[in-house]
Amino acid sequence: MPKGDIVAGLDIGASKIVALIAEVDAEGRFDIIGLGESLSGGLRKGVIIDLEHTARAIERAVEQAERMSGEEIRSVYVGVTGPHIASLNNRGVVAVANEDKEIQPEDVERVLQAARVIPLTADKQIIHVLPRQYIVDGYDGVVDPVGMTGSRLEVEAVIITAASAALLNTLKCVQRARLQVEELVLNPLASAEAVLHQAEKELGAVLVDIGGGTTEIAIFAQGSLWFTSVLPIGGDHVTSDLAVGLRTPIAQAEKIKKEHGCVLMSLMPDNEFIEVPSVGGGGKGTVSKKTLAAIMQPRAEEIFTLVKQEIKRSAFTGLLPGGVILSGGGAMLAGMAELGAEQLQMPVRVGFPARMGGLGDMVASPPYATAVGLVAYGARRLAYAQAAATRHFSLGNLWQRFREWLREFF
Ligand SMILES: Nc1ncnc2c1ncn2[C@@H]1O[C@H](COP(=O)(O)OP(=O)(O)OP(=O)(O)O)[C@@H](O)[C@H]1O
Ligand SMILES: [Mg+2]
Repeated sequence: MPKGDIVAGLDIGASKIVALIAEVDAEGRFDIIGLGESLSGGLRKGVIIDLEHTARAIERAVEQAERMSGEEIRSVYVGVTGPHIASLNNRGVVAVANEDKEIQPEDVERVLQAARVIPLTADKQIIHVLPRQYIVDGYDGVVDPVGMTGSRLEVEAVIITAASAALLNTLKCVQRARLQVEELVLNPLASAEAVLHQAEKELGAVLVDIGGGTTEIAIFAQGSLWFTSVLPIGGDHVTSDLAVGLRTPIAQAEKIKKEHGCVLMSLMPDNEFIEVPSVGGGGKGTVSKKTLAAIMQPRAEEIFTLVKQEIKRSAFTGLLPGGVILSGGGAMLAGMAELGAEQLQMPVRVGFPARMGGLGDMVASPPYATAVGLVAYGARRLAYAQAAATRHFSLGNLWQRFREWLREFF
């Protein structure tokens, strides 16, 4: 088999950093060939606060993935997250330039430029302009207008913005790890790429990625993204509640949470007990599993209450029959899907990354959704760029401009 192109993804999480290397074929299918993982620790609420520490952790993860794959990587698709992320829906309108009124790739670029025009303070930066549909002379639902005839081209798009400083710190970290940023990608957009089915995106569904320090939300309908936001709360808050409630060190609380924890009291028996080492190593106590759940449930409920508020803010309440898909390490908590269904009054399932070859089984679990989604996104980009090259048009659009923006700083 001829060797395909190589794509690498880098998920800089609050708990762990994951580097994934994939080999991509012309259709955008990919095999996972390298995985590297390191403990994080240099982030707070999804934002990098310790550059050097994070850069070294990135290096460790990348070296491990390189060793496994036998490939050296120079550039990576990097996930971005944090409560500073916001989304906004906008429209752009242009007159088709050509005399014969055939829409050219340049017209599409111009209309996307028009959609980018939003009031933006200097501390914010656009990271994605995602076209939802094009409208040609009033006819909507157009996916690819190039080659069509018309005099008025409109686009409806969702614009994703992020804090410039947070983006620059992410870039600095990646650069200190001697890598280039291929593109910055919104974390929940990547996770959705890995765990949402197309049918769910069409019907209307919400991706909820519960990480260590953040919970990321992305709402899809009619096949596209409509809304995204990031909450500064995650699985680590459940751990610290347990540590306080049981008077045990954080590391012990984390272990107990993973081995015995459950966020739904009604699922736990009254008569089962576990041993809990106390802070300072002074002896052990026992606690019932029901009590564990009683400590954990309120925090999980808080997460879903905030998710519910975000769905309300997006104006999609009652319009998401595809339900909720959970990913991230927090989705591994026992009882999470059941509690979510109860609280949100929607169907909830746990999302597992699928459809990968090679070493894909190693990353086929919810905490890897973002990393898998980043290589899936990169693979799609590559396939698209190749298809575009054969159709003789350039890709001088947003991400090209974004790279120019980066160059201004480095
Ligand atoms: N098997 C498990 N059972 C319960 N909780 C788990 C399990 N595995 C991981 N977690 C929890 O998931 C959280 C980490 O999730 P994840 O690895 O997705 O975070 P991250 O991507 O590094 O962080 P963030 O997305 O917030 O930047 C931690 O709170 C951890 O305790
Ligand atoms: Mg994460």
